[in-house]
Amino acid sequence: MYKIAVLPGDGTGPEVVQEGLKILKALSKKFNIKFEFKEFNYGAERYLKTGDILPEKTIEELKKFDAIYLGAIGDPRVQPGILEQGILLKLRFALDQYINLRPVKLYPNVWTPLRDKGPDDIDFVVVRENTEGLYAGIGGFLRKGTKHEVAIQEMINTRMGVERAIRYAFEYTKKRNKRKKLTLCAKTNVLTYAHNLWERTFNEVAKEYKDIETDYAHVDATTMWMVKNPEWFDVIVTCNMFGDIITDLGAMIQGGMGVAAGGNINPEGVSMFEPIGGSAPKYTGKNIINPVAAIMAAHMMLEFLGEKKAADLLERSVMKTIEKMKSMSAGKMGMSTTDVGDHITELISK
Ligand code: IPM
Ligand code: MN
Repeated sequence: MYKIAVLPGDGTGPEVVQEGLKILKALSKKFNIKFEFKEFNYGAERYLKTGDILPEKTIEELKKFDAIYLGAIGDPRVQPGILEQGILLKLRFALDQYINLRPVKLYPNVWTPLRDKGPDDIDFVVVRENTEGLYAGIGGFLRKGTKHEVAIQEMINTRMGVERAIRYAFEYTKKRNKRKKLTLCAKTNVLTYAHNLWERTFNEVAKEYKDIETDYAHVDATTMWMVKNPEWFDVIVTCNMFGDIITDLGAMIQGGMGVAAGGNINPEGVSMFEPIGGSAPKYTGKNIINPVAAIMAAHMMLEFLGEKKAADLLERSVMKTIEKMKSMSAGKMGMSTTDVGDHITELISK
């Protein structure tokens, strides 16, 4: 029995999570996997009504679940940062989900701006450090609001934090067993302290993984290769900020935000799975958002829980459904949000 906390969140989050839950229930019947879902309604609505963001006691409660399934956080009615920091980043940090795992995989029949590249070329995974770097929230203002204002935002890199992300990436590359190549993406020529630590740690840990080929790319070059030669990549490990940026690019080359899923992983604790695209407020309530990303987040959750058979059937069913979809973009799919979910559910159940 898996206890899953469900946080539908804001905007289109609830609609796409709904489709994901539909599919998890179908898989549960087919494979006799028992899920117990509990919904937590935190997000803009709750915040605007009550001022509650995410109470400590809820975080304590969430620690007792096997995984968290998250829709999206963020709403134009709330000042940017309040919900993102108060819910999403808060959970990543409080649950010590030190890895943000983001596969970039082009499925057959999905349009990509890299037209001449196919599913064999675009299939890599970004391991993003998820609890340090520029996201640590350390800094401050001096003379705020004056002409001489100074704003400092510090980039925190600890040996422990860097090393555990790099170790996770080496292990992941080994388990993935694809090209057995791990690329460090950093900026050693400018971030001569922070990314020097990353580089030294990477090279040290690499000695323990003789069968894994290692490579290095500066972050700017990485964005170039992702478009020009995506087939060079198997697994990329990078810091929090760079990981945020390059995985939005990754989402685009795999067909857009409608497809891209991610996992916030604490290998020893409670992990959280989410579509990476955000709450897409302008599509809310129209039944036109693409739920594939949220459904692939459920796929990552099943893989993480060790339900390989269910995960594989889900991925195959998604691929078959994608063949029937006209586009991966909201409103252009040739199907509604619920149609996509229903189609995948039928393929699973038959
Ligand atoms: C993501 C998002 C978040 C991030 C925001 C919403 C804080 O862009 O999950 O990539 O920057 O990590
Ligand atoms: Mn992002």
